[in-house]
Amino acid sequence: MRKPFVAGNWKMNTDNHTSLELAKRIASGSREITSHNASIAVCPPFIYLQSVAKVLSASDIAVGAQDVYFESKGAFTGEISPLMLKDVGCTYVLCGHSERRHVIGEMDELINKKVTAAISGGLLPILCVGELLNERDAGQTEQVINRHIKKGLAGLSNEKVSAVTIAYEPVWAIGTGRTATPQQAQETHDFIRKLIAQMYNDTLANEIRILYGGSVKPDNAKDLMSRKDVDGLLVGGASLNADDFLAIIRAAV
Ligand code: PGA
Repeated sequence: MRKPFVAGNWKMNTDNHTSLELAKRIASGSREITSHNASIAVCPPFIYLQSVAKVLSASDIAVGAQDVYFESKGAFTGEISPLMLKDVGCTYVLCGHSERRHVIGEMDELINKKVTAAISGGLLPILCVGELLNERDAGQTEQVINRHIKKGLAGLSNEKVSAVTIAYEPVWAIGTGRTATPQQAQETHDFIRKLIAQMYNDTLANEIRILYGGSVKPDNAKDLMSRKDVDGLLVGGASLNADDFLAIIRAAV
């Protein structure tokens, strides 16, 4: 049985004060949801990770980073290593978010290095995959997902892949208010699970958690979660509002 997983991606939002307030409100509001029922995480900007982790230390909510570099230390100006993220209390890290792929220009090879380094550094990577609108319209969704997953997980042993969560986020649904239908999400999640079975084995495919992301809101969360292969939600905009994020968590457990 896969435990539901809801993660909030704050992106480049909040400031020192609002990040702490948001963390406090989410922590107190989620008290009745224990770690037995669900995994919950928030991913604040790098500079607020440590203070948010402190606020959440007495709760069941984990902290994740939005990105990571693949080297552990050295002359890499501006970058943050897996060890640094562990050091300030991170459990998870997003790798290959669509904004990293399409705004910053990250390629699959770099994302693979990040996933690999994150696992070696003791973090749990959330590998984000998803097609652009023109790719979906051209019937290339499975081809794109196949490439993102095969290249993103290249070289990882069965044991290492068990540390990974996959997030399917169709790029046309991110921040647009246009959610994939639960049926569209289920179809792609099913494709991903079968791909993992092919690449590894059935046990791993049954255990790996596949989250959906892209305009998840309190009013569509339950419907998305009702699908067999939707194991959780990666929430952007709605995770910046404590009431909305808590409502999504309740819908998911
Ligand atoms: P959104 O973002 O919920 O604002 O669409 C999701 C994401 O980018 O992870």
